[in-house]
Amino acid sequence: MVQRIAVIPGDGIGPEVARIGVRLLESLELPLRFEWFDFGAERYLRDGTMLPAGFMETLRKDFAAIYFGAVGDPRLPGNEHAKGILLAMRFELDLYINLRPCILLDDRLSPLKGKARADLRITMFRENTEGLYAGIGGVFKKGTADEVAQEVDVNTRKGVERICEAAFAWAEQRGLKRVCMADKANVMVFGHGLWRRVFAEVSARHPAIEAKAMYVDAVAMDLIRQPEAYEIIVTNNLFGDILTDLGAALTGGLGIAASGNIHPGRISLFEPVHGSAPDIAGKGKANPLAMALSGALMLEHLGYALEAQRVQSAVERQIRQGAHTADLVPLLGGAAATTEQVGAELLACLSSTK
Ligand code: NAD
Ligand code: IPM
Ligand code: MN
Repeated sequence: MVQRIAVIPGDGIGPEVARIGVRLLESLELPLRFEWFDFGAERYLRDGTMLPAGFMETLRKDFAAIYFGAVGDPRLPGNEHAKGILLAMRFELDLYINLRPCILLDDRLSPLKGKARADLRITMFRENTEGLYAGIGGVFKKGTADEVAQEVDVNTRKGVERICEAAFAWAEQRGLKRVCMADKANVMVFGHGLWRRVFAEVSARHPAIEAKAMYVDAVAMDLIRQPEAYEIIVTNNLFGDILTDLGAALTGGLGIAASGNIHPGRISLFEPVHGSAPDIAGKGKANPLAMALSGALMLEHLGYALEAQRVQSAVERQIRQGAHTADLVPLLGGAAATTEQVGAELLACLSSTK
C-alpha cells in the first residue's frame, strides 16, 4: 500500500533543504508518495491561510507522515504563522514526543576537547504538547507603566507520564541503561514537583534502568563537562527546546540536527531542529544533512528501519568523504560547498550502499 507523505517546505532555507531530502528519499523507490503543500509565510501574507480548514483532519485520515522544512520570516517578526502551522500540528495531532538525537556522527564534529563518538550519544525526549508552549496567558494594562504579562506553564499528569514512559521504553528497546530528567523543581515547585513525582513513579516501573532527576542548569553545565554521562534526557517543552540546540552544537551544529514530532502509531512530523535561517536563505548555503537525517527518522517511524539506517550511513559517509557547507567548514576544513553539491554527493553515497 502506498503511504502518502505531506511535504511542507515552509520558509527561508526550508524549501532548499526539503528538495534535497525528498529527492534522497524518492531514490529509495519505496511505496511512498510525496505531496507538496505551500503553507508558510508567503501563502499567509498572500491570502491569510496558515493551514486551511479541514487540513488537520485530512492529515489524520489520509497521510502517514509530514516532512517539514522550517517556518520563520523576517516580515512576520511575531512568528504568528509558526503557531498556526507548526505548533498547531504538534498540538492538534497530539505529537507528544519531540525526539531529538544528539549523536556525534564523526569525531571531528565535536567542539569539545577530547570527546569522540563514544562520548556523545544522547537522545533527548522533549515534551511537545504543553508546558510554556500552551499559549495560555495575557497582558494587562498593556503599554502602561503598570503592565503585567503572564504565560501559564501547563503540566498535566498525563502529559508528563507519557513522555517519561516514552523515554524509558526507548531505553529498554535499545538496551540503554540511563534516563535523566531535567527540571527546575527547586524553583518551579508545583509544575516541576509534579515532574519529580511522576518521573519517580514511571522509573519504579522500569527498575533495570538507572533514573536520575537533575536541575536543568546543572544538566546544561554537565553536557559540556561530561556528555558521556548521559544516554537519554527527558524534559519539558521549553527546556527541551534549549537543551536540544545545545545538543546540536555539541554534535556538529544545527545544520545536521534532526527531529521527530511523534505520536506512536499515528501520523507524525519530521523536521530539522533548525529554523528558516533568513541570514543564509536563497544563497545555496544551507546544510541539507539535518533534513536528510529527519527523513531517516521518518523512515524508521514508517517501518523502514533498514532504509533509515542506509540514509544515516550515507550521511556519515558524505561527512567523512565529501565536501561541506560553510557551517561545517570550521570543524571539517576545506572550501565551502553548496546545498546542491552536498545533496548530489549524498545521493551518490546512498545509491552506492544498495
Ligand atoms: P535558525 O535555526 O534559523 O538559525 C540559527 C543559525 O544557524 C543561523 O546563523 C543560521 O544561518 C544557521 N543555520 C540554521 N540552519 C542551518 C543549516 N541547515 N545550514 C547552515 N546553517 C544553518 O534560528 P533563528 O535564526 O533563531 O530563527 C530564524 C527563524 O526560524 C525565526 O523566525 C524562528 O522563529 C524560526 N525557527 C523555526 C524553527 C522550525 O521551523 N522548527 C526552528 C527554529 C527557529
Ligand atoms: C523548534 C523551534 C520552535 C520551538 C519555534 C519555531 C516555535 O525553535 O522547533 O525548536 O520553539 O519549538
Ligand atoms: Mn528550537
